[in-house]
Amino acid sequence: MSIQAMSDNQVPKHIAIIMDGNGRWAQQRNKKRTTGHKAGVERAREAIETAAKMQVESLTLFAFSSENWNRPKEEVSYLMELFIVALNREINALNKNNVRLKFLGNTKVFNSKLQQSIEQAEQLTAANTGLKLNIAANYGGRWDIVNSVNQWLIDSERMDTIDETTLSQYLSTNCLPDLDLLIRTGGEKRISNFLIWQAAYAELYFCDTLWPDFDANSLIEAINDYATRQRRFGKTGEQVSDK
Ligand code: IPE
Ligand code: IPE
Ligand code: MG
Repeated sequence: MSIQAMSDNQVPKHIAIIMDGNGRWAQQRNKKRTTGHKAGVERAREAIETAAKMQVESLTLFAFSSENWNRPKEEVSYLMELFIVALNREINALNKNNVRLKFLGNTKVFNSKLQQSIEQAEQLTAANTGLKLNIAANYGGRWDIVNSVNQWLIDSERMDTIDETTLSQYLSTNCLPDLDLLIRTGGEKRISNFLIWQAAYAELYFCDTLWPDFDANSLIEAINDYATRQRRFGKTGEQVSDK
């Protein structure tokens, strides 16, 4: 199906991607894992462009999990440097393309150079009205939920009990549409502590393609697959197709 042929509800409003497989991609080429991360950044840029073209409202990319600190020190340092370089290199083009950039996760522990780049990028693009691009960095789904409850406890002065709507409003995704499609590249079939609350009713799409090989067509293929799904939200198939 071409991009134009898709009706509004066939294009997911919010796509999230677990960009996995950089290390294996590099190892298959007898290169260092870091080469895979570098190649992965180019694919992230391609995914952003494709999502914007398809008028996806929100795209959330998993760049670094709260568990990724457990990797070898050199790989973590390389990734931190890569984030700074990529962010500083891309931010003006993103801004020109009306992209609103936000970081999800506990970014307060990053080095001051990276925190500064993040802050500047968020401020520069805050008023943009195009694609809502979210980079999940030092993000963990459990952290998001605990953080949400803690923030609410401060605001509520413990006078009330929390409900689902309130908890959602305190999550890092509070201003974003519900997650429609969660993609994981690289062959693993797990969520790895990504948007665990938000994925409650998302459509899941797993593919074996390693992230540095996941091009624009691969993303369009995932969106086309999403368009064939019947989302029932607990109802019967007949109820949904009667609509
Ligand atoms: C995902 O690719 C990128 C990050 C976690 C930063 P990996 O580095 O996990 O690649 P594999 O899974 O080892 O191939
Ligand atoms: C998930 O990938 C995190 C990112 C893509 C940033 P991992 O490669 O870290 O996941 P696990 O450890 O294999 O579950
Ligand atoms: Mg991995």
